[in-house]
Amino acid sequence: MAKKFQVTLVGASGVTGRNAYDYLAENGPADLIWNIAGRNEHKLKQILGRGDETWNKPEITIADLGNPDQVEAMIRNTKVLIHLAGPYAEHGEFIIAKCIEHKTDYVDIGGETFFIREMILKYHERAREQGVRIIPTAGYESLPFDMLTMMTVRRIKDVYNETCSAVKIVTSFHRSGSVRDNRISAGSIGTMRNILAGDHIGAFNDMSCLLPDSCDRKGIRRRNKVKYVARYDQDVNAYTGPLQPAPFLNVPVILRSAYLQNEAGRGYGDQFRYSDSMTMEFYSRNEAGQREAARKSAFKNRLTSMIMGGPRIFRSLIRQRLDSMGIRAGEGPSEGSLHFVDYELRLFATASSGRKMTARASARGHPGYLSTARIAAEAGLALSFDKRRDDQQYGIVTPSTGLGESFIHRLENAGVEVSFD
Ligand SMILES: NC(=O)c1ccc[n+]([C@@H]2O[C@H](COP(=O)([O-])OP(=O)(O)OC[C@H]3O[C@@H](n4cnc5c(N)ncnc54)[C@H](OP(=O)(O)O)[C@@H]3O)[C@@H](O)[C@H]2O)c1
Repeated sequence: MAKKFQVTLVGASGVTGRNAYDYLAENGPADLIWNIAGRNEHKLKQILGRGDETWNKPEITIADLGNPDQVEAMIRNTKVLIHLAGPYAEHGEFIIAKCIEHKTDYVDIGGETFFIREMILKYHERAREQGVRIIPTAGYESLPFDMLTMMTVRRIKDVYNETCSAVKIVTSFHRSGSVRDNRISAGSIGTMRNILAGDHIGAFNDMSCLLPDSCDRKGIRRRNKVKYVARYDQDVNAYTGPLQPAPFLNVPVILRSAYLQNEAGRGYGDQFRYSDSMTMEFYSRNEAGQREAARKSAFKNRLTSMIMGGPRIFRSLIRQRLDSMGIRAGEGPSEGSLHFVDYELRLFATASSGRKMTARASARGHPGYLSTARIAAEAGLALSFDKRRDDQQYGIVTPSTGLGESFIHRLENAGVEVSFD
């Protein structure tokens, strides 16, 4: 049966969702048939007031994620669900199960790896049989990292006829203006809270957590352990620390892409390794300040990792601290500030013979809340409109394996420019 909507955006009143709304209304196809869904009609009506008469304004659907009937009706009526009402662990399973049942493709920007693992174990095969694409982590983390890696692996195959044995990506954030508002949103805090409360399998510290047990998970873990260290990186001539804000997310996603691609016969090397880090210009202009910022970031992230792997009492104390901050959905950095942070990824790949290849991706706008919104919106449009291709896989997949190489044009539409040196 034909679906009423080509795209449904849920979470449009959130920090990220507002920007995804703007992007779809302004830049989506003029004849896009879409709706925004959420629990608060008043807020959704306010969202419709954004922009001008040239924008393609959607319908409103009332759907509280805690109401199964409303959620199922929302999913049944749409070809693609762009789910930005994170965090995801609380209501996410019902949504994913219903998307598979009603053959609704799905994209989100979550980072709760313990929950994604559970969904893979329970629903990957069913989604694959149904020909549905469920794509978590399709924001700044991890889509551009994952796509850039996949494209480089393919290029190494095409140009050198070799597999790729290692990829390292160094990220930089740049200030492009004077507005400084570095707060994080309620949704991001909620994600951390959910991990503290629900990650009983140690997924936070396990880079093989999105892989099935039939893999050599121990070996993969050993090769891809995240090192929470500060170091001077000769490739970029700068001090680096752990990637922010979520150094635990890209690694498992990209290792899952490697696993899924190898299953389909498109080779990442058997011993493929992935790592990432971040330079510190955003925090200080001079070298001493950058070294200190890298050291602090490494310490903070090492501590977080120890807490995540430590006794429950510590996790519970931090969770209480996060709850006491009392940040409400939709609160976060001011909208004006989001245009003044840009980012750049510099990728360094090593082929099996030791030959090197480099690539870059850069984008204007705040990675987490602006670029993420545009990227997720384009992912939703791709799922709804683009021709199916052989390199796209079904199931609970990753951004690069679900969307395939052709997504690169949409990534560029979203403002992420990619180049190979
Ligand atoms: N991967 C990445 O790079 C990346 C980047 C940024 C954010 N994120 C993730 O994205 C998620 C959202 O972040 P955000 O900053 O946009 O969050 P936010 O500002 O708190 O927005 C949350 C949205 O979810 C809606 N919502 C909450 N509970 C709901 C329910 N029961 N029914 C219907 N709607 C509900 C809220 O609606 P109301 O307005 O009605 O409360 C709001 O629209 C988080 O999980 C965050 O970690 C990921």
